[in-house]
Parts: sequence; C-alpha cells; structure tokens
Amino acid sequence: MRLLWSCLLLAAIGFLTTATPHPRNSSLHRLTKQLLQYYHKEVRPVHNWAEATTIYLDLCVHAVLDVDVQNQKLKTSVWYREVWNDEFLSWNSSLFDEIREISLPLSAIWAPDIIINEFVDTERSPDLPYVYVNSSGTISNYKPIQVVSACNLQTYAFPFDIQNCSLTFSSILHTVEDLDLRFLRNREDIKHDKQAFLNDSEWELLSVSPAYNILQSSAGDFAQLQFNVVIRRCPLAYVVSLLIPSIFLMLVDLGSFYLPPNCRARIVFKTSVLVGYTVFRVNLSDEVPRSAGCTSLIGVFFTVCMALLVLSLSKSILLVKFLYDERRSGQERPLLCLRGDSDVDESRLHPRTPHEEAKESPVRQEHQVQSGTLKEVWFQLQSINNYLRTQDQVYQQEVEWLALLYHFDQLLFRSYLVVLGLYTVTLCSLWALWSSL
Ligand SMILES: *[C@@H]1O[C@H](CO)[C@@H](O)[C@H](O)[C@H]1NC(C)=O
Ligand SMILES: *[C@@H]1O[C@H](CO)[C@@H](O)[C@H](O)[C@H]1NC(C)=O
Ligand SMILES: *[C@@H]1O[C@H](CO)[C@@H](O)[C@H](O)[C@H]1NC(C)=O
Ligand SMILES: *[C@@H]1O[C@H](CO)[C@@H](O)[C@H](O)[C@H]1NC(C)=O
Ligand SMILES: *[C@@H]1O[C@H](CO)[C@@H](O)[C@H](O)[C@H]1NC(C)=O
Repeated sequence: MRLLWSCLLLAAIGFLTTATPHPRNSSLHRLTKQLLQYYHKEVRPVHNWAEATTIYLDLCVHAVLDVDVQNQKLKTSVWYREVWNDEFLSWNSSLFDEIREISLPLSAIWAPDIIINEFVDTERSPDLPYVYVNSSGTISNYKPIQVVSACNLQTYAFPFDIQNCSLTFSSILHTVEDLDLRFLRNREDIKHDKQAFLNDSEWELLSVSPAYNILQSSAGDFAQLQFNVVIRRCPLAYVVSLLIPSIFLMLVDLGSFYLPPNCRARIVFKTSVLVGYTVFRVNLSDEVPRSAGCTSLIGVFFTVCMALLVLSLSKSILLVKFLYDERRSGQERPLLCLRGDSDVDESRLHPRTPHEEAKESPVRQEHQVQSGTLKEVWFQLQSINNYLRTQDQVYQQEVEWLALLYHFDQLLFRSYLVVLGLYTVTLCSLWALWSSL
C-alpha cells in the first residue's frame, strides 16, 4: 500500500514538473530582464538632459486622525499618487505577448525625491515595494501615507472652528529645470473630492484646494504643489457638553441678583455657583484645546463671568461687614451687638426692630436699678434719648451704604447682562460663519 502511495506521489511530481514551463521562458520574465538589464537607476530617465521630468501628483484625504492644538500639529491619513514617464522603460507590447503593464521593484528604478515641506514627524507609510509600469513607460506609484504636518491651528472660534492646513509637495534637491510638478486630475475634481473621506469623525472635510507655485530661492527655483486642506469641527458634542451647561450656570448666577444684596443666603448661593464653575472648568480643561498663542473665546467668557461672580461675591461680603461694623460702633453693649448681628437682614426689612430693642434694654436696666430716685430716672431717660439718637444715625448710615451697594449691584447686574448678550451674539455669529462655509 505504502509502495503504491509513493509511486503515485512520484508520478504526480513528475507530471507537475513537466506541466509547468520554466519561469525563465515566460514573456514576463523576458520583458523584465530586458528592461532592467541595461537600466541605471542613478540616471534621470530622459534622453535629452535639458528636458525636465514632469511628475504628476494627486492627493486624496482619507481621514483626519488628530488635531493637536497645543503642539500645532495635524495628523492626517492621505492616499498619495505620483505618476511620471520613464523614457527608458518602454517596450513594444506586440513583441511581448501583448503585455501592457508590469510591476517592477521601486528599488530598481529611478524615483523622484518628493517630500512634504510641513513634515514634523517621520512619515509613516507601509513599505510598498512595487510600482506599475505600462508599455509607454508611464510609472504609477500609489501609496497611503500618514502625514504629521505642522499647521497654524486657530482656536479662538472653538468649538465652531475651521482649520486651514496646507500640504506642500516639492523636490528636496531638483530645481524646476530638472523636475517639474503637475496635478494628475483637474483642480475642480481635486477640490471637491470627498469620496474617500471617513465621515464619522469629529472633523468634516470642506475642500482640498490645490495651487501650483514656484519657490524662488538662492539654490534655484523649485516647483511646489500645495494642497490646502480645509476642515471644520462638528460642534454638536461640544454644544451639548460645554455650551449649554455654561449658559445654565450663567443664568443661575444671573438669578442670584434677584436676592436682596445684603441677604447672607446670597453669599452662600454665589459661593456654590463659584464652586460649580470651578468644577466645570476643571472637568472641561481637557476638552477645550489649549494653545499658547491664542485662547478660545469661550475661555475668555468663562473668565469674565468668574470675575463678575467674584466681584459680586466680595461686594456681598463687604456689605455684611460694613453693616456689622456700623452696628458695633453704634452700640456699647457687645451682647446686644451680637444679637443685632444675627438680625442684620431683618433689620433692613423691618427697620423698626432696633427701636424695639432699644425700648427693651432700658426696661431691663430699670429692673437692675429697682429703687432709683427721680434724678436717676431723668438720667436714664436722657441715656435712652441718646441711645435712640445714635441708633438713628447708625440707621441713616446703613441706609446710605445700602443705597451705594444697591447701585453697585445694579451696575454688576447690567454688566452681567451685557456680557451674556455679547456671549450669545458672538456664539451666534461664530455659528453663522461656521455654517456659511
Ligand atoms: C520557450 O517557449 C517557446 C515557445 O513559447 C519554445 O519554443 C521554447 O522551446 C521554450 N524554451 C525553453 C527553454 O523552454
Ligand atoms: C512593434 O512590433 C511589431 C512586430 O514586430 C511591429 O509591426 C510594430 O511596428 C512595432 N511597433 C512599434 C511602435 O515599434
Ligand atoms: C500608459 O499610461 C498613460 C497614463 O495613464 C496613458 O496615457 C498611456 O496611454 C498608457 N499607455 C499604454 C500603452 O496603455
Ligand atoms: C487657506 O490658506 C491658503 C494660504 O495659506 C489660502 O490661499 C486659502 O484661501 C485658504 N483657504 C480658506 C478656505 O481659507
Ligand atoms: C462621506 O460623505 C460624502 C457626501 O457627504 C460622500 O460622498 C462620501 O462617499 C462619504 N464617505 C464615506 C466614506 O462614506
């Protein structure tokens, strides 16, 4: 049985070896060998050296991977194509089995030295070893690249921001006399090509407008192809998590102005709002992009609102302190002063309270001096009179302070309204600008 099997196996191997022709005899092999036998990849592939080699470029943005505002870097994934004509790599296809296109190793042929000027990190692309060559010598090199490029990112309009980053392709060494650049497709097609773009990210591709220019430098003139990638942020997530809560906080803060200015509940209330603001800012500091060069308008508004909040809070504290001081200087007895302090709010609401207190205290004193003479009574009455007068003065001063602080409160309230109005108008205009593109 085993013998039979080995015989069959041998027969099969024999059949296979006779059936497959030798690879050296294939026309593909012949063609490749013929093309590369006398090829020198060191030489720019033109017969007439004065002629420039024209490279046709194309770019298709596939995804926006990262927008790093702090380091002013943009990370994108693009499909890149370069096409050029190699005059030494053409053949007559009727002589080679009608082969019109073959793949050749990139390392074996001449290739242009094109880089992206904005590179700040090593480009990452899969190492693709082959290029396609057709019978008239046209070479196509297609590859996906992950580009990390420097870009001037603006954040003042966050989250309604639009970024304009350019990718400039040029040869690092060859001047325009040796190496010229062209667009592979017409410009309108390039500009509006969003076919390959992944839609579900935070960024939306608006356009990729191409431009050709010649960079003049002391080393010579260089051809440059610029692709201006314009992307726009989808703000919905930020509106929900950032703008709406911030507007609520501001409204709550605005509501605190309806509490009377010398009410101490207002201090507690404002302090809670301040704590709320702080927690909110700490939570969102990761979400709001930060750059050293420019701050977002939202951040400025937060700071202004916090400043107003702190102002009105310190105003409330000052008010309570003044009222306390006045009362203390007006009253000799610390016991009464303490009791008066606990009723600061009521005293303003019911101005008759101090009088009642004043009436109450001589009565108590009378108990202490039970068996007094008429003269003593006269003195007592006089002291009551004095006491009432100072109380009146204190009350008068209190009213003046209150009036002043009421004015200040009104002023703060108005500036709060103005800031809130500005905030709304700015947000609306940013949104209008954002949606107009
Ligand atoms: C190669 O193929 C041709 C026909 O295409 C044949 O005539 C020739 O004998 C073959 N040579 C070898 C070495 O197989
Ligand atoms: C290609 O080869 C065929 C057959 O030898 C010949 O007839 C034709 O003229 C050649 N074409 C060119 C462009 O040289
Ligand atoms: C080779 O490719 C170029 C560009 O795609 C095209 O213009 C040319 O006609 C092709 N040549 C042949 C023989 O197919
Ligand atoms: C992007 O910037 C380039 C120059 O840097 C400018 O020519 C182009 O108009 C800008 N595009 C938009 C949409 O702002
Ligand atoms: C993204 O949306 C555009 C139109 O808005 C569409 O043409 C394109 O095919 C979409 N891309 C993907 C990858 O779905």
